[in-house]
Amino acid sequence: MAIAFYKAIMQLKSREFESFRSLVYETSGINLGEGKESLVSSRIGKRMRILGMEDFQSYLDCLKDGSAGDEMVHMLDAISTNVTSFFREPEHFDFIREKAGEWVRAGQKRFRFWSAASSSGEEPYTLAMTLSECGLTSATDTRILATDLSTRILAAAREGVYASAKLASLPSGYASRYFAPAGGGTMAVRDSLRDMVAFSRLNLAFPPFPMKGPLDIILVRNVMIYFDNDVRKKLIDDCHRLLKPGGYLLVGHAESLTGLVTGFKCVKPSVYLKQAQ
Ligand SMILES: C[S@@+](CC[C@H](N)C(=O)[O-])C[C@H]1O[C@@H](n2cnc3c(N)ncnc32)[C@H](O)[C@@H]1O
Repeated sequence: MAIAFYKAIMQLKSREFESFRSLVYETSGINLGEGKESLVSSRIGKRMRILGMEDFQSYLDCLKDGSAGDEMVHMLDAISTNVTSFFREPEHFDFIREKAGEWVRAGQKRFRFWSAASSSGEEPYTLAMTLSECGLTSATDTRILATDLSTRILAAAREGVYASAKLASLPSGYASRYFAPAGGGTMAVRDSLRDMVAFSRLNLAFPPFPMKGPLDIILVRNVMIYFDNDVRKKLIDDCHRLLKPGGYLLVGHAESLTGLVTGFKCVKPSVYLKQAQ
């Protein structure tokens, strides 16, 4: 009843949509295109219901004047789309297994990876499983940095507990090797994987990023679709700076970087090699 009441009175005016659109772009680089009014209205409306607020303009005002503390963080949490899965776009993990094997055989002793829009953790934990299968663990100086804009989704990733059904896409034997039953039809990531991954909040719209390179592989997958070319270009350039010569940038299969990359060679669709200078 109360929700129906709020829905009835919460109509997003087009000038309010434009204000949210600018604010989201300025703070996250996310480019909410035309026709996203209903998405903005329902996601932000949900957040406003939690706060007991009824009108979009008042919410905008408190976001802009900073009177609501870290409400901007919650607003961006509400806006972001976090769809992901274990072994999403599995060819990337075949590629990583192949490269890690080559680097191990060549005597490399330190391995650094970055999952740059890690969402609820499936991507960095998939990376950790893939590397573990090559004998790379926290004991062999292998580290994965996993970052995202959304604090809500990072908390879920750190917790590392997933519905058993989500593990269906894992290769045979991985579920028992890398997860332990956690009750109520869920499975928890085992410490051997947790020890490899460090989670942190990081906004991809504001390079340069503070990490210490050089990195071996960076995954920036299925996030650049939300950015315009200006934000994409700056992000890719900073990935180039952070990678070692001979390191790789992996992007989502649907994300074309045509005209945006310099200093990289596309070695297969969605896989870019940082060339030696
Ligand atoms: C669709 S998910 C992709 C997850 C994973 N990389 C994959 O391919 O399955 C996009 C993620 O990007 C994050 N994101 C959106 N804008 C961001 C920004 N400016 N900085 C960092 N992360 C951002 C969202 O919070 C969300 O978790």
